[in-house]
Amino acid sequence: MIFQNKYAPQTFNDLIFPDRNTRQRIKEFACNERHGSLIFHGPYGTAKTTMARMVEQMRTSGLEYGSVDFYRAFDMQHETFKRISNTQVLQRRCGVEMPVTIVDEIDQVDKGLQYKFRWEIDMNCDQGCFVFTTNNLHNVDPGLVDRCDVVELPASNTQHWFDRARWILDKEGVTMSDGKLQALLDTCDGSIRDLMRALEDAVLRQPANTPTPPTPQLQVISSK
Ligand SMILES: Nc1ncnc2c1ncn2[C@@H]1O[C@H](COP(=O)(O)OP(=O)(O)O)[C@@H](O)[C@H]1O
Ligand SMILES: [Mg+2]
Repeated sequence: MIFQNKYAPQTFNDLIFPDRNTRQRIKEFACNERHGSLIFHGPYGTAKTTMARMVEQMRTSGLEYGSVDFYRAFDMQHETFKRISNTQVLQRRCGVEMPVTIVDEIDQVDKGLQYKFRWEIDMNCDQGCFVFTTNNLHNVDPGLVDRCDVVELPASNTQHWFDRARWILDKEGVTMSDGKLQALLDTCDGSIRDLMRALEDAVLRQPANTPTPPTPQLQVISSK
């Protein structure tokens, strides 16, 4: 299996947040206790899309209502709003308390459409909410940003990721001093993808799981 996929987060506890307060807020959102819209922002490879999908899954777990309502920037057109609204109706009928629509890389969406999302949030906030992701918050309509809970995700070479990287190395049976692990994190560019490549390198270079071959023993058979 691809190393990156092997350690992809399986549960909420695997996700990395910038601080406890943010973790708590996102957990409340995932548990249907908060119903506002969210924006995850941060550099490439900081788990924005992963987190959006996970919170959506948690909110709808156990409910059979069809596929995730997920749009990439290039899927978005004026007609898409009608589809979003129909899906929200369908989801509510299937028991989803407050449907979530994910719009990935909202900064790449046409300015006019970004503006339209403001009105969706203002006029239909009791019908469904949105999770947006972006690498470029400054390219997102400021009025839309103002209507969302904005969550910045930390780059993966910061202290927040140290424990997760340590956990992965432990799983692989690789021992590494804190100093060496920190030095490894420092070589990464902040993307989890880059971190995973560095950890995979470390695992392959130090195959600690491979049993050390027994040292050959000389045995004296006869003294004559
Ligand atoms: N906590 C985590 N531990 C390990 N891998 C993670 C974690 N969070 C995300 N990833 C992995 O990082 C990669 C990039 O995540 P992604 O959500 O696509 O980032 P972004 O949308 O910010 O570019 C994916 O392969 C994902 O499985
Ligand atoms: Mg993404």
